[in-house]
Amino acid sequence: MSEPSKLDEVFGPTRSERALGQVLEGSLSTGLKVRLDSGFTIERLAVGRYVVILGRQTGITFFGLITDIALEASDPELSHRPPESDDRFTLDVYMGEVAYGTLHVSPMLMLEADQDQPRPIKTIPAHFSHVYEASAQDVARVFGEEDETHFFVGTPLDMEAVQVNLDLARFVERSSGVFGKTGTGKSFITRTILAGIVQSGLASTLIFDMHNDYGWSVKDESGKAYKGLRQLYQDGRVSVITLDEDTSRARGSKIDGRLTIGYEDLEPEDVEMLAALLGLTDVQAQALYFLYRRLGRGWISQLMNDAGAEDDLQEMIDSGRIVAGTLGAIRRKFESFFPRMGFLVPGSSTQSVDDIFQRLSIGTSVVLEFGNYGNTLAAYVLVANYLTRRIHARYVHLKNLAAGQKAEEPRPLVIVIEEAHKFLDPQVANHTIFGTIARELRKYNVTLLIVDQRPSGIEDEVMSQIGTRVTCLLDNDADIRAVFSGVSGAGALREVLARLDTRQQALILGHAVPMPVVVRTRDYNQDFYAALTRTGVSNSTEGESLFGE
Ligand SMILES: Nc1ncnc2c1ncn2[C@@H]1O[C@H](COP(=O)(O)OP(=O)(O)OP(=O)(O)O)[C@@H](O)[C@H]1O
Ligand SMILES: [Mg+2]
Repeated sequence: MSEPSKLDEVFGPTRSERALGQVLEGSLSTGLKVRLDSGFTIERLAVGRYVVILGRQTGITFFGLITDIALEASDPELSHRPPESDDRFTLDVYMGEVAYGTLHVSPMLMLEADQDQPRPIKTIPAHFSHVYEASAQDVARVFGEEDETHFFVGTPLDMEAVQVNLDLARFVERSSGVFGKTGTGKSFITRTILAGIVQSGLASTLIFDMHNDYGWSVKDESGKAYKGLRQLYQDGRVSVITLDEDTSRARGSKIDGRLTIGYEDLEPEDVEMLAALLGLTDVQAQALYFLYRRLGRGWISQLMNDAGAEDDLQEMIDSGRIVAGTLGAIRRKFESFFPRMGFLVPGSSTQSVDDIFQRLSIGTSVVLEFGNYGNTLAAYVLVANYLTRRIHARYVHLKNLAAGQKAEEPRPLVIVIEEAHKFLDPQVANHTIFGTIARELRKYNVTLLIVDQRPSGIEDEVMSQIGTRVTCLLDNDADIRAVFSGVSGAGALREVLARLDTRQQALILGHAVPMPVVVRTRDYNQDFYAALTRTGVSNSTEGESLFGE
């Protein structure tokens, strides 16, 4: 039935000579139905693998992804009257003719005979075009070679020899996300990608490292140690700044600085983000702005324990500007939270922001290590919000100067946050800095890399702005739906996502890959470190300073 076409001979010795089947029906939007040849056993196939389809009339090669596998019968009676299971003869007659297997294939790319780069798909192969299992060579051709801006992050399913190389320039150009249930490998793949970004020098990264996963040595459940980014790049390209010096030192981290925030530098916008976490009601959260206006920059200390402020506060109550209960609640909540935050210091202390901005602007990546404060979500939200608001403001300023030829373009910045839904849920995403950054795309050269196990908690509009999505196993329907929001024709990929292994497998789709791909993520081990050193040393150290230092 299946004669190999001429093109098949031209196009790669490793692809099987025999087609696995032919296209029966389908559409560009819903995908193709492929009937398996009788000699081809369905049990060898798997969702997430690629096929190549040779266009019947044009010689165009189409790439598609298997997104479903089914059994069918041309005679509806068959399921009512199946052959006896030991009747070999009848079984053989039926199998492959009356009863056969089908594949659902989502077409992804097309390669015209006279071109060497595949393009996004615009048409589909004709009826009865032959379908082949894609060879390693076919797939390698699509994902290209590793080079200065393409970074090897994993191998396609069952193709250990082929590298999937992420286009880092496109990756940092828009906000991106790493999703997956707990323990699926999000932090590991994120660290791998960040190592690639640092290596490429395409962007600085500011990593809000909640669980001490990125800076210095990282231990897994079994106690095995992995190198953090600061260990991979000891030449100054990565700095570790800590909020919790004791814990960082106890862990043996090499530290480049300490973060402190002055009480007087906190604005109501910084604290409002914590409202839900501190248990402040809407009314109480709104009252923060009023208190700040009345008390000025010393507002937090005054509210917490400054006896001298009592008269002022009493006056506010007496004049009916604030209800005693509201004020009391705010004071209690402040008193139970702020004093525990050892990185907060009296007065004003903005040199941490200056220092971090300075590092980022010369191309150094900064890992902000939370130490034990990572266990307090409110501390994480406070610091991430505080720093990001200020760093972003400086980028906006620089970008505006650059527009008027008064400064150089700020170096692209990628801000990495975990538990991203806490910053981007529908209630807060509209008025927080993170929502703003996600929405304004790369207008000011700042993008987000969000790491989250509950993408359904992130506002839809923000999700639809995510350029590249790296998704490990998710099993909650709402989360799966969220990961595909704004992706056309993604329905078929759901099946693929739901069938990933529980660890170290991911579906990558979007801006930074030519077509969606299921990968086994690159092992993070000695070989990885060695490969980085091999490619990294030559184009090593310095980034040039915007300030000419
Ligand atoms: N690329 C990899 N190389 C080596 N080991 C890996 C890799 N990916 C995952 N692992 C193993 O899987 C474990 C879990 O991975 P990881 O810590 O990245 O999960 P996670 O999705 O970030 O989980 P959580 O949501 O709890 O933070 C790691 O401790 C490690 O043992
Ligand atoms: Mg993690």
